[in-house]
Amino acid sequence: MPAAKKTARRRSAIHPDLATLLLTEAQIKRRVRTLAKEIKTAFGDGEFTIVSLINGAIMFTADLMREIDNPVRLDCIRVSSYGAKTKSVGTPSVIASITLDITGRNVLLVDDILDTGKTLNLVAALILKQKPASLRTCVLLDKKSRREVPFQADFVGFDIPDKFVVGYGLDFAERYRNLPCIGVLRPERYNSGSA
Ligand code: IMP
Ligand code: MG
Repeated sequence: MPAAKKTARRRSAIHPDLATLLLTEAQIKRRVRTLAKEIKTAFGDGEFTIVSLINGAIMFTADLMREIDNPVRLDCIRVSSYGAKTKSVGTPSVIASITLDITGRNVLLVDDILDTGKTLNLVAALILKQKPASLRTCVLLDKKSRREVPFQADFVGFDIPDKFVVGYGLDFAERYRNLPCIGVLRPERYNSGSA
């Protein structure tokens, strides 16, 4: 089999730890492109500062910002993660904060997924304390049915059902972030441990 055909075959195969494929690489790429247009319409031509929640939003942020031709600044914020669990427990806390000065700046906060809403609530409140000119939020995925604290993102890539998903930056116990697609993790992959 020619090498190119073999590669295409490998990439289209679902990872064995996924129960179902939710979003293909092509679907994500298309939506990221249209999201970037929506963001551009809202911000106009001016400069803005992207604040990305790492590690989860790494891939999404990298792809999204390459579709935006405005002048942008980038900073990252790290919030405590689920660890080897599939549900958030307790209150998230900031582990590493941003270093750029965002006072008087237009800010776009980017995360991979909006679930209970606790993380973005916390981070948005911290950013607002620094008195930005404006704050908008963009998430690739939204599990609306799981919300515990009210939070609505300004830009949403896809609404998804209440399933634990991995890939394209999203992890379980730090694994699967490198999958180019997004899928539902097989429950036996997390039921065996402390999850
Ligand atoms: P929230 O604070 O409950 O809204 O959770 C947001 C964070 O939880 C996200 O930034 C993710 O890191 C993580 N998370 C929520 N749902 C999932 C999922 O289905 N897969 C992987 N990570 C998730
Ligand atoms: Mg995250």
